[in-house]
Amino acid sequence: MTDVRLLGRLAEEISREAGEMLLAKRPARPEILATKSSPTDVVTALDRAAEELIRDRIRRARPYDAILGEEGGATGEGRVRWIVDPIDGTVNFLYGLPEWAVSVAVEVDGEVVAGVVNVVPRGEVFTAVRGGGAWLAGERLRCTVGVPLDRALIATGFGYGAGRRAVQARVLAHVLPRVRDIRRGGSAASDLCSVAAGRVDGYYERGPQYWDHAAGGLVAVEAGARIGGLAGRPPNPDLTICAAPGLFEELHDLLAPLDPERDDP
Ligand code: IPD
Repeated sequence: MTDVRLLGRLAEEISREAGEMLLAKRPARPEILATKSSPTDVVTALDRAAEELIRDRIRRARPYDAILGEEGGATGEGRVRWIVDPIDGTVNFLYGLPEWAVSVAVEVDGEVVAGVVNVVPRGEVFTAVRGGGAWLAGERLRCTVGVPLDRALIATGFGYGAGRRAVQARVLAHVLPRVRDIRRGGSAASDLCSVAAGRVDGYYERGPQYWDHAAGGLVAVEAGARIGGLAGRPPNPDLTICAAPGLFEELHDLLAPLDPERDDP
């Protein structure tokens, strides 16, 4: 039997160690090492170093587990798989803005059972184990409940790529007049933890990858939120929505007419 709590504890230890390394080694001006999907989608040497550290610690503790990492891709096979974003919010990391996170989730048989989002510059480590609640510094987290769309503070993000961003701008123009306000923090993992902590009421984004939302999504769900895509689909790069039931459906219905399958350029 796989002990989910032990996996969660290991995920927390590893994400704390990676966070300490990143804080200690972050130069005043980190250099861009490479670009990925577009010139705005950057990687620093420390994204790679942090993922290497995390992979090394996982392999040492659990040599037979699979790993999916933002920088290193998929390795290994097994019932247990680790989903790693070594720096979620790389652009913030680059500029010295205090909103980036080490995100580590653990799946068993394809379901995320533990998630840790370490928002390193703020010293906040959000944790969740499926069925065990969402936690920050010993406090149980609860998302806001009963907030109608027109009074909701909504976090969002923008994936990389000019074509995708043109669509994101159209979606934003549709959402902004219908909500209290929008926040763009720069780290999807941290945005989802903000939903969990009631610091925003909801989140939507076109473009997040699995490693951006695997850990934060569980934290939000364990705090009472719902996460998913359009029409009952799981969270996905076309559209991911997260909010308490009620607001989730309102956001869903607002976004459904802009279904990417119909409006992508
Ligand atoms: C990005 C951040 C950003 C979100 C993008 C992500 P990265 O992750 O989470 O907030 O809007 O969709 O790609 O590239 O910094 O790991």
